[in-house]
Amino acid sequence: MSELVSEQFIDIAEESFIPKRLDRLRIGMFGLGVVGSGVWRVLREKRNEFAYRFGIDVTIERVCVRDGSKDREVDLPIDLITLNPADILEDESIDVVIELMGGRYEAQTVIEAALKARKHTITANKLLLAYELPRLRTLAERNGVNLHYSASVCGSVPVLRALDNHRSGDSIEAIRGIVNGSTNFILSSMTSSGLSYNEALLLAREKGFLEADPTLDVSGQDAAQKLSVLIYHAFGLHMTPDVIETDGIEGITSQRIATELSNGKVIKLIAEASLDAHGKLNAHVALQAIAREHLFASTRDEFNALEITARHAGPQILYGKGAGSFPTASAVIGDVVELLREQL
Ligand SMILES: NC(=O)c1ccc[n+]([C@@H]2O[C@H](COP(=O)([O-])OP(=O)(O)OC[C@H]3O[C@@H](n4cnc5c(N)ncnc54)[C@H](OP(=O)(O)O)[C@@H]3O)[C@@H](O)[C@H]2O)c1
Repeated sequence: MSELVSEQFIDIAEESFIPKRLDRLRIGMFGLGVVGSGVWRVLREKRNEFAYRFGIDVTIERVCVRDGSKDREVDLPIDLITLNPADILEDESIDVVIELMGGRYEAQTVIEAALKARKHTITANKLLLAYELPRLRTLAERNGVNLHYSASVCGSVPVLRALDNHRSGDSIEAIRGIVNGSTNFILSSMTSSGLSYNEALLLAREKGFLEADPTLDVSGQDAAQKLSVLIYHAFGLHMTPDVIETDGIEGITSQRIATELSNGKVIKLIAEASLDAHGKLNAHVALQAIAREHLFASTRDEFNALEITARHAGPQILYGKGAGSFPTASAVIGDVVELLREQL
């Protein structure tokens, strides 16, 4: 009798503590715009490779959008599209939610519901993270799921991972970089082609680098949101964008750019944060004149660059495409791979 009891106990314990080995990872995605379309395409391209490498079939099961009548450029079966978030959030077979809608409050509702439903969650939404990151991380932890957001800052450039690594093995003293591709495109066009601010703004819009309302980019707010997320990973502090001193590029003139060029300098919108000798964090986003020899000066168009200065390692610079459908999708897929590794 006592043997039977102990065997039953072992069965229950194994069932509750050893995670089930997954052979499928089912994704529900919110948003099929610039980034969502890229994620759909790249994931389809990688499906066989993931099945081979991880033994897990990764599929997008449903995609929630706002406008059901829109023509979609992606080749996606129509029955996968839904306008009802519950079709994803209340579907117990869905393991992972990818939020690529943007905006703050609707995205927050979706992410919180996904985490509470114990679905791993991936997002690229720096606006939401800048305000809610610590709370969402706690919510994920309490529900025993993972929250990944590599694509939220610097697109394809793995800056958050680099900060996590430096912070655990060293200590970070400062971060400084170009983190907004749209404003960098405008400044690059003014510098290299001699365009006026308005002409460069128009070109950025034509190339698809700007939202219909470019205010968040040109006011420096987008850079401040990204800086907030970077600060969290570099220093473990949560500083919301409204307390980060922020200037944009609206006041820039061709005259100022030409004057700095004649002094061997290039104007860039720089986001930076550093700890002073008393451990106080200083953070701001502002236009700066950068010496022509510095890598930032040759960081053009939608490219981003981030310099991380750690106490022992010294300065290091990461550089790459910070925006666009495929670069951003590549970071989102990187987060899916992270989840796959966690399942092994
Ligand atoms: N674009 C980039 O290069 C880039 C880079 C890094 C990070 N991000 C971030 O990635 C996210 C997505 O950006 P994006 O450029 O792909 O945006 P986007 O092109 O405007 O696409 C947004 C998508 O979300 C859908 N959507 C919006 N509100 C919705 C709602 N309430 N319910 C369901 N679906 C909704 C839209 O549906 P409809 O198609 O029906 O309108 C659209 O498919 C944002 O958080 C952005 O900050 C973007």
